[in-house]
Amino acid sequence: MTLRTAVIPAAGLGTRFLPATKSVPKELLPIFDTPVIQLVMDEAIGAGVEHIIVISNRSKPAIESYLTPSADVVNRVRDSGRGELADRLDRLGKSVQVSVIYQDVPRGLGHAIGCARQLVGSQSFAVLLPDELMGDESLLKALAQVHGSTGDSVIGLKRVDHSEVFAYGCVGVKSEPDLVGLVEVTHVVEKPLPADAPSDIVIIGRYVLGPQVFDDIESLQPADNGEIQLTDALQIAALAGSLRGIVSNIDRHDTGTPMAWLEAVIEITLKRPDVGPSFEQWLRTRLR
Ligand code: G1P
Repeated sequence: MTLRTAVIPAAGLGTRFLPATKSVPKELLPIFDTPVIQLVMDEAIGAGVEHIIVISNRSKPAIESYLTPSADVVNRVRDSGRGELADRLDRLGKSVQVSVIYQDVPRGLGHAIGCARQLVGSQSFAVLLPDELMGDESLLKALAQVHGSTGDSVIGLKRVDHSEVFAYGCVGVKSEPDLVGLVEVTHVVEKPLPADAPSDIVIIGRYVLGPQVFDDIESLQPADNGEIQLTDALQIAALAGSLRGIVSNIDRHDTGTPMAWLEAVIEITLKRPDVGPSFEQWLRTRLR
């Protein structure tokens, strides 16, 4: 199945990154020289997406400026010798359509996704949470493929140490993952205490959802913290027997806290062919 549309929720206020986020949205924090959101968009585009819908907040105008790079900026990037990055920037707004819509009140991830309803329409779509970076687009493609063949919503999953489940949405599954990690999800709990967790399998921030999810989101009452949770909409699909997941070992980096972001910067920079070797040499000397 071709995944045409992706939604990237980027309306959060980034309080964990204060004071930087007084002026720089956390989605624009650089991984070496490339903003987090660019890497997430590259993943979506790599999976075939042609329309990216970014849910932002009016207090973060820099997001919209970044998403509409002027020809001058693209040319300057090209002149600096980074032709490949210039091509990626140039695609935004040309071969890839980018729309920005605003969530004016912080009412949770489910509510943010619901804001995209009109633009998404009646098609299936991907959701990519920019707090997580994947090493490549293979997981997103695999989710889309399972969605295409089953019609079910499909979510990215991974196993974590049982003590870590409280930081994620956690799933109950019908049976052990098959050879490609595929599972049928029987229920979903947002950030459970380890003692209440149905398993040690948690949701990582990649989803391929059918349009039914918009009705499910609209039917929800706010959770105890006042937010409309995407997990609660997924629970409706799980109870209806139409939610699957892929338990993945994909190379994945968290960027949601300053320390996790710093680790992501270091690991991803070490892997870059252009600057990785010299950075590694400096790091080794520094740590000696
Ligand atoms: C969100 C989701 C959660 C998921 C997590 C993945 O939580 O609500 O289900 O496991 O992303 O990163 P957040 O980290 O935004 O609180």
